[in-house]
Amino acid sequence: APLATHLTIFGATGDLAQRMLLPSLYGLQREGLLPPALRILGSARGELDGEGFRTLVAAAIARHAPAGERDPASLRAFLERVDFQPADVSSPEAMAALARTITAARDGGGAAYHLSTAPRWYAPICAALGAAGLNDPGARVLLEKPIGHDLASSVAINDGVAAVFDEDRVFRVDHYLGKEGVQNLLALRFGNALFEPLWNARHIEQVQITVAETVGVEGRAGYYDEAGALRDMLQNHLLQLLCLTAMEPPAHFEPHSVRNEKIKVLRSLRPLRGGDVASHTVAGQYTAGAVGGTAVPGYRDELGRDSRTETFVAVRAHIDNWRWSGVPFYLRTGKRMPRRCTEIYIQFRAIPHSIFAGGGARVAPNALVIALQPEERIALALMNKTPGLDRGGVKLSQVALDLDLRHAFAEQRRFIAYERLYLDALEGNGTLFVRRDEIEAAWQWVDGIHAGWRDADLTPKSYPAGTWGPASAVVLTERHGHSWRE
Ligand code: BG6
Repeated sequence: APLATHLTIFGATGDLAQRMLLPSLYGLQREGLLPPALRILGSARGELDGEGFRTLVAAAIARHAPAGERDPASLRAFLERVDFQPADVSSPEAMAALARTITAARDGGGAAYHLSTAPRWYAPICAALGAAGLNDPGARVLLEKPIGHDLASSVAINDGVAAVFDEDRVFRVDHYLGKEGVQNLLALRFGNALFEPLWNARHIEQVQITVAETVGVEGRAGYYDEAGALRDMLQNHLLQLLCLTAMEPPAHFEPHSVRNEKIKVLRSLRPLRGGDVASHTVAGQYTAGAVGGTAVPGYRDELGRDSRTETFVAVRAHIDNWRWSGVPFYLRTGKRMPRRCTEIYIQFRAIPHSIFAGGGARVAPNALVIALQPEERIALALMNKTPGLDRGGVKLSQVALDLDLRHAFAEQRRFIAYERLYLDALEGNGTLFVRRDEIEAAWQWVDGIHAGWRDADLTPKSYPAGTWGPASAVVLTERHGHSWRE
């Protein structure tokens, strides 16, 4: 596809646009990476005009662009690219008028349409673009999550989009794939000879994927209460991390090869059904507590009403294939955890026999920790002799070979996820976007968990804000002789 030189953002005044999308485009501007000819058209419901929108964009950048990266010249140059046309997406006239504006502004060049509205509008927006002939081979559409709330609704949305845009023109965003640390997972696995021979059930005892957040629901209670942690985080971000951790080596680093390997992992996930759901999953909801020394209200207090929505979920998953047979993958994510932490923990099997048993030394298994947030870090836990004369037996302690990537690459600017994703989308590279079959396989698996919860009439267990979730999350691992890394 040709380089896109026109970008339309639907939902351009929304929370995501202000926090992430506009500051990211500005970041690319400042780095000199935006295609010189790129024009950006915002659209949303309401009465805003171009001037009003540019004021909003400037305010969003002042608030959300990284400190130290706000400079007047870049901002001015950025605002020169930006315009706005209001459109109520449910109004065919307004959409036709918007399409005319896009057609004129594109002037035959490549175009991208970024849909950051409520997902129920994705199909109607695509239909309007198609009706105006804007779905030519030079066009691509970016879709924000969530694509539906279960398999059926996601199929309906994907069908509506597919009626207008071919799959290779559809870029489904999972912003975790834009994170440096997530891509580094592939570099670590496939740029080193050291790990791959050990990366299987023979040598790995268990894997843990944690995405812990300290924030609560942040003014998105309406959306969040409908979604819950399983739909909001696990269905997408955690399963993508799982895929990248567990997949076979792709033939090439390009869209089809990478996504073909990810889908195999999703299809190998052992379905959780019926009674398995209760023994393999834990749902939690936070009550009042303290995070980082600050008292915070409980979820229901924030919401102002009763709710059975989970703000924490933990799952014991299995990938039924040759590489991973028998290895548990523990996944957990929650709001109002003690600290922000995204990491993948890989615990290797214990040594087969200890020659140090005489000293009573416990030989802890090796472990690899790949931390993605808040700091990128790779640590390998090794056993080391504790210095000393060791009368009565050698003493060992666990130490970490610890690589702080912030220091190792202190010179490099860290791009935020959407900067990377926007550049790839404008250039037409879909490697870091999610294919339809992945989204649907993920929903299918997650639907099984929801059905199990529904059938068991499950209420989330409470946990005080500032803790690592309900006690039953601990049981989930300890029952199998494992424990969560903290
Ligand atoms: C979003 C979720 O997809 O990811 C939010 O909807 C969550 O609930 C966010 O807070 C976390 O992203 P990050 O980049 O801060 O880890």
